[in-house]
Amino acid sequence: MGQGGMFDPKLYAATRRPAMEASGLPGYCYASPEWYAREIERVFLKEWLFVGRADQIPNVGDYVSLDILEAPVILVRDQQERIRAFSASCRHRGTRLVSGQGNCKAFRCPYHAWTYSLQGELLGTPEMKRTKDFDRSQYGLLPIRLESWDGFLFINFEPDGISLSQFLGDLPETLAGYRFSDMVCTRVVGYDLACNWKVYVENAMEVYHVAFVHQKTIEETLPTSVWDTVPSRGSYINLYGAAPGSLALLEGDVGFAPIEGLGEKELGGSYIPLIYPNTMLGVTVDCAWWLQILPTGPERTRVNVGSCFPRTTAARPDFAEVAERYYKRWDTTIPEDNWISELQQPGLRSRLNRPGRYSYREELVHHIANYVLDRVLDPA
Ligand code: FES
Ligand SMILES: [Fe+2]
Repeated sequence: MGQGGMFDPKLYAATRRPAMEASGLPGYCYASPEWYAREIERVFLKEWLFVGRADQIPNVGDYVSLDILEAPVILVRDQQERIRAFSASCRHRGTRLVSGQGNCKAFRCPYHAWTYSLQGELLGTPEMKRTKDFDRSQYGLLPIRLESWDGFLFINFEPDGISLSQFLGDLPETLAGYRFSDMVCTRVVGYDLACNWKVYVENAMEVYHVAFVHQKTIEETLPTSVWDTVPSRGSYINLYGAAPGSLALLEGDVGFAPIEGLGEKELGGSYIPLIYPNTMLGVTVDCAWWLQILPTGPERTRVNVGSCFPRTTAARPDFAEVAERYYKRWDTTIPEDNWISELQQPGLRSRLNRPGRYSYREELVHHIANYVLDRVLDPA
């Protein structure tokens, strides 16, 4: 490696070429702790990150705690019904305030019982009377920027920067017909995987593998030939597959009626957008699902998968019974993607591995590599 080490732009000239002339990223981009640290700092700590759905915390005092980039975070609905995000570290000596999800009137630290309101104000501090110049109002929970789009909640660790709506560009408009604000998330399933986050994101955005990895399961409902890249304006990329019917069912299964009010384009196919860097949506005629692809280490990824249905669908008496067919589809195909991702990782990381070439079906894999290079490399 030259003087600039692994962040020297010259090393990536082959990936910078147009997709059909380009080579992929070197394997160390998927395994090196140094490369990973740059991605956290320059990608994940700067961008809007999807953290859940507003309908997962519908009532005042409902909270959910999650770990984002090794930082415990709380999402809570406050007394004014406004959803807020806070760092879950106690302002006394840092203890994690809550785990999992639930409902509460205030957050009470399990260590020395400092207590915080749902708005994050520090209310109770036992035994602190002798502490000089201790001003409680300076020790509220640290807020994190949170904005939402049709029930999808996003946080941003960067205090300044563009709004979520600027970030998403024309995605809300492209998908307006699905009325995500009228949907509810009915199930979340998580997987801890031994692969780099990009391995998973790249897999999500190419249909090249479908005929092979999903040969026995969804190849028929998801033929490679119907998919095309949709032009996008915003921090996302998008695929549209022109095949009518639900993308979320296995061949032969009958599901729910389409979402009310969909237009011709929506009824005639499905969308798979990737909101950079790590949120994939599956959007089809009767439901939607999300994949939150969270890096937990250079070669570790947590994938959370949520299923969303229109409120009217979820209220049907036969919902639980029919929804099982959808859950079966996700529980079949997602482990196939998990399997291939964990097989790719050790081969990709090998010192004997060399970058390969892309198929025209991997245009977006090339786009993802260049998105990362744009942010991670030193200036030329
Ligand atoms: S660490 Fe939370 S009250 Fe002491
Ligand atoms: Fe797949």
